Amino acid sequence: MSRDLSYNGVMSRKSEIMKKAIGIDYSLFESGTIAFDYERMMRETGYTLEEMQEIQKTVNVGNTPILELKNLTALARKIAPAGKGARIFIKDEAANPSGSFKVRRAANAVYHAKKLGYKGVIAATSGNYGAAVAQQAAAAGLKCIIVQECYDSKGVGQPEIIEKARKCEALGAEVIQLTVGPELFYTFLLLLEDTGYFNASLYTPFGIAGVETLGYEIAIQFREKYGKDPDAVVCTNAGGGNLTGTARGLIKAGSSAQIIGASVNLKGLHMASDEQFNKKSFTTGHTGFGMPFTTWPDRSDVPRSAARPLRYIDRYVTINQGEVFYITEVLASLEGEEKGPAGNTSLAAAFALAQEMDKDQMIVVQETEYTGAGKHIQPQLSFARDNGIDIFFGDPREEIPGKNIILPSHPSMIKAVDVDLNKIRISHIKNALATYNIKADEVCDSDMAFLAKETKTDVNFVKEVLSTL
Ligand SMILES: Cc1ncc(COP(=O)(O)O)c(C=O)c1O
Repeated sequence: MSRDLSYNGVMSRKSEIMKKAIGIDYSLFESGTIAFDYERMMRETGYTLEEMQEIQKTVNVGNTPILELKNLTALARKIAPAGKGARIFIKDEAANPSGSFKVRRAANAVYHAKKLGYKGVIAATSGNYGAAVAQQAAAAGLKCIIVQECYDSKGVGQPEIIEKARKCEALGAEVIQLTVGPELFYTFLLLLEDTGYFNASLYTPFGIAGVETLGYEIAIQFREKYGKDPDAVVCTNAGGGNLTGTARGLIKAGSSAQIIGASVNLKGLHMASDEQFNKKSFTTGHTGFGMPFTTWPDRSDVPRSAARPLRYIDRYVTINQGEVFYITEVLASLEGEEKGPAGNTSLAAAFALAQEMDKDQMIVVQETEYTGAGKHIQPQLSFARDNGIDIFFGDPREEIPGKNIILPSHPSMIKAVDVDLNKIRISHIKNALATYNIKADEVCDSDMAFLAKETKTDVNFVKEVLSTL
């Protein structure tokens, strides 16, 4: 009998296809309703820190340098109140193969795929992860397919995504470029079914565990070089794996550094809208991913995401597009460092946050990414202008995503805007109830304990929220 290739037919085989393509039986960790055993899943399907360090070392991943940004710190101190202006550092993940921290995830995924005997790997991603998987697959001698949501319906693509396609192809991957819409997941599932390749999802336990080495290295490097841990670590947050893995690594190193998430504010722009797709200048690290994934992580391409940022985040801030463009240029002209947009999102936030901290404190931007052709500020700003976006100097607080990009008239105008974490926590609890179709008075004790862990709160907080629903 021939396969049902209709959209509904393929979707109905989703669980079966995924199980074959990842090799994890997620049902083992389920406990019935909302709760599942996250730590057991991480323990039994991931790798230990030592194993990951070894896997990554063999493929030249990790052990990236820490750089102190003395000139940027001096600028922050010039505009900070007396006695304020923490030292600003970056962990230079652009020094990794493929140019970003994403290769820490890819190294583990590709190692795991090879160990299980898969002939190839597939990843659905428009960003750095595609290049990272392509790079690791090339080195491991596995075939690689990258599925990208790339164009709007007129066939116009974001310069950064187009560049990423080139990079993936240069690294030997087959790149399947799609327009915005639900066909991405459909095509992805069909490809997995047709090829029998491994799903190198961004959200598997081994992928997320791959980022733990990053957090661990930060703690160890700071202790060796500066005799103490950094006070705050800023992580650019989208799907949540970056922050989750880094925080877990820091905790494994015994560090209690404050974990701050940062996303570019794209409020009002709809990610799945064909018309708005090309109105944004950032393809990741923005609130269009950060908000939905933080308030409900299990919306990814695996049944239970290993990226659960709300479990770890201490503070969450947003920063505007114009501020990130501005800090990118400041970094290049004051420090001679050219880095890409996602890491610079955290850098713009760190520049503002350092001004709240004491001079003897240290804040580290947990990752940088490479920049080049399509990722540079010039092609991005030209593309924005071609898409009808006004670009001018002024007060970044007045920026409206999709309408304008406001470059700050003065560096003192760069501000990290706090997101109300309790609102996010309440959304998370509401989403859990909606997903499992449970009423507030039906939530059992074990689900309450789970929701308390998920939201980094306690059972009383969860009970209070439930009583208001
Ligand atoms: C360089 C870089 N930094 C940060 C992020 C955000 O990571 P996550 O989606 O795990 O939150 C991405 C994801 O695309 C990235 O490519």
